[in-house]
Order: sequence, then C-alpha cells, then structure tokens
Amino acid sequence: MNATGIDGYRDYLARRDGDADLLNRRLASREDFFGWLEADPVRSKHRIDPHAFAQNLRRRRPEPGVDRRMLFLLATAKLNQAERFGVGLGETYGNNSGDDVPPERVYMELEEHYHTRLLAYVLDIFGLPFQVVPPPFVMRQFVKTAVFLPERTSFMFVGASEMAGCIMFHELRRIGVELFADEPEVAARIDRLYSEILTDEVGHVGYCAARCTSAERAVMRRLYPRIGRLFARQTFEISLLTDRDELRGMLDRPFDVEELTAGLPTETFLAAHP
Ligand SMILES: [Fe+2]
Ligand SMILES: [Fe+2]
Repeated sequence: MNATGIDGYRDYLARRDGDADLLNRRLASREDFFGWLEADPVRSKHRIDPHAFAQNLRRRRPEPGVDRRMLFLLATAKLNQAERFGVGLGETYGNNSGDDVPPERVYMELEEHYHTRLLAYVLDIFGLPFQVVPPPFVMRQFVKTAVFLPERTSFMFVGASEMAGCIMFHELRRIGVELFADEPEVAARIDRLYSEILTDEVGHVGYCAARCTSAERAVMRRLYPRIGRLFARQTFEISLLTDRDELRGMLDRPFDVEELTAGLPTETFLAAHP
C-alpha cells in the first residue's frame, strides 16, 4: 500500500477496477458499480424536451433562451462526445495495446470507455437517449493531435488535457448538484457519476505527470489553462454555465488536487504532481 509513483498507480488501478478485459471492454469492479446503478435507477421529475435537446446537441451554440438545466445536460452530452471521439480513435489505432505497452494503459483506456457510459447515465436520469454526434471541428483536430503525437511528447499534451478535463468535470459536477438541489436523489446521482469520472481523471493526470520530466511537467502546467479555456469555448454551454472570470481564475491558479478531490467518496491516487 505504500508504493508510490507508477508502481503505486498500478496497484491502485488493480484495487479500484479489478480485472481488465480489453476484448470486451470490461473492468470487473466497474461492472459491479453499473450493476448497482441499474438496480437503483433515479428519475427526475423535471421535464426536459427531448427534441430541443437533440436539436441543440447538433448546434455549435445553443438556441437563445435555453435554460440552465438544459445547458448542463448539453454540456454533459457534448463533453462526452469529445471523450468518445478520442478514446475511439486511440483504440482503433491500438495505442494502448501490445506487449510493449505497460498494463496501466489498458486500464486507462477502459476507464475512458466507462466515462462515456457514466455521462450517458446522467442523461438517462432525464430520459434522454445517448446519441453519437461528432465533436466540433476544432475539438476533433485537437483530439487527433493528442492521439497521434509521438509518445514522448504526448504525455505533457495529454496530461494538460486531463488537467483541464478535471476542472470541467469538477465544475459540471458542482453546477449539476446545484441545479437539481430540489431533487436530492437526482443531485446525489449526478454527484456520484461525475465523482467516478473525476476520480479516474485525477489518476490520469498523475500518471502523465509521472511519465514527464520536470521540464515537461512545466510545459504541462503552462498548457493546461489554455486547453481549459479551449474546452470551455468549444463546449460553449460550459462558457454559458460558468462565470468567465471565476473559470479563468481557477485555471490560472496552480492545479489544486486537494480542492478537486475534497469530498469524493472514492480513493484517489496521484502518481506525481503536475
Ligand atoms: Fe475521461
Ligand atoms: Fe482521462
């Protein structure tokens, strides 16, 4: 239990996720978690118009007058599409598979698959179906850059994106809980689903940082606020949901793992601080 760095992260992943099955894209413990979710479904009483949702999902910017609850669900769905696009591409190209690839990479890829499912479950609370929509052009190019960079350079780039992702998930979790505070079960379920993702993403940040030299970690820290602002602009609903100066302030402060992981119900692990 006292292993640190990448060795510690490997132990942690085995503890958190159980056996990894790449062929069937399964992590044993995650399946247990989903079994628990499905056995105890939560339904919101708020009516979200599925047509308006589907229409806005395909728009770069939401129609005027869309309320904050709809904005939150759109942001959830759109972030999901960017993740799905990147994970699918990396998987198609076999980036995390092979005898020369360390075991944690399979775990990380499978965790990312589960993020698509976790975010889809947020939509499911409102009876909204999961749909496949390509992320906007700039996001697609961004994701491709991250997936196709040579491995050495990719850690600081992907690491900075994972850091930015942590902030987005942290913010959406907070906002979702606030928006549905009138339905405590719904708020609790949103909190739980987003917490699972945040727990994984903090682990990914630590892993990327551990694979970087200290000079590369400095680049990672410099890239991170820029990528964070890009994510917020590209998923425009996030810009509408958050206070611009507050989000900027958060991205410009040093990355604070304590703050991000405070109150998470799950054990987190940071192999190295970025
Ligand atoms: Fe993810
Ligand atoms: Fe990640």
